[in-house]
Amino acid sequence: MKKIAILTGGGDCPGLNAVIRAVVKKSLQYNWEIIGIKNGWKGLITGEMEILTDYSVSGILPKGGTIIGTSRTNPFKNPEDVQRVEENIKRFGIEAIIAIGGDDTLSVALKLYERGIPVVGVPKTIDNDLSGTDYTFGFDTAVSIVTDAIDRLHTTAESHHRVMILEVMGRHAGWIATIAGMAGGADEILIPEDNFDMERVIANLKKRYDRGKKFSIIVAAEGAKPAGEDNHVTQSDEMDEFGHVRLGGIGHYLAKEIQKRMNVETRVTILGHVQRGGTPTAYDRVLATRFGVGAVELIKEGSFGKMVALQGNKIVPLNLKDAVSKSKTVDMGLYEIAKVFFG
Ligand code: F6P
Repeated sequence: MKKIAILTGGGDCPGLNAVIRAVVKKSLQYNWEIIGIKNGWKGLITGEMEILTDYSVSGILPKGGTIIGTSRTNPFKNPEDVQRVEENIKRFGIEAIIAIGGDDTLSVALKLYERGIPVVGVPKTIDNDLSGTDYTFGFDTAVSIVTDAIDRLHTTAESHHRVMILEVMGRHAGWIATIAGMAGGADEILIPEDNFDMERVIANLKKRYDRGKKFSIIVAAEGAKPAGEDNHVTQSDEMDEFGHVRLGGIGHYLAKEIQKRMNVETRVTILGHVQRGGTPTAYDRVLATRFGVGAVELIKEGSFGKMVALQGNKIVPLNLKDAVSKSKTVDMGLYEIAKVFFG
């Protein structure tokens, strides 16, 4: 009987439990034992684990979050932690690890693989910015939450003749802003891939007002930046273990500028972690399930250092190295289509 372990790292994401359930169910078919590592890479440092059974995963398919917890722990910050990870892998008799995460979690997986640890990855992020996979699970759920928010903002914006700014997640890539903005009929979408010109944004809003449209909806990704600014708008200078500062504040920045230049009532909504919480959509549940089963099959074949990816409608293996080498930013052709509806 094989003993495999699973962990979830980085920001949580709807669909994590669906992957865990799929991994456990598929592994049990092979008569393998599955260990849930608690709180991402942290659990491998501290040795906090639990056996996952059929019973542990019962009823978790529609549940958001992760039953085994997550953290943004980076064992490579401290050589002693890497040693602890390696010792615990031996101590618990772990023969393979499935790491579910985004860029940061999977870059740790890659480094461990390069040190001889049998690891496979599952791509996760609501931001949809991982290379090599058409979609990550969690993204579709986030998009539907944001689209619903835009629809709701529309009616109140129209009634009060206001500019409504919706700040959404998206650190390096504006996928959520672009897709939800298009679905919700946003009048302006600002993304990290295309530094915006405040004058152009104002000109577009004015054009709308001149056409008798007395309200506007702007969707801004947290990583969007005005042209000429070197730094992101941030909430604090504190960095996580992977060197990221907490973004946030672009919405208020925009509101101040718009009110100053147009004298029109402006309100800001920051959706924040609402985008990451709650039940996954049907699409995300199915994608997560396919990824989970795919990851177990990779272990069965002895194919390590790989990540399962969605390409077209197929789940394919991809070298972890290729997946974490660069982030997948918004397709500018798609953004051009979104722009048709600006102003
Ligand atoms: O997982 C990525 C992400 O959703 C980013 O868009 C965002 O900057 C970050 O998570 C915020 O997460 P937390 O508040 O958990 O650090």
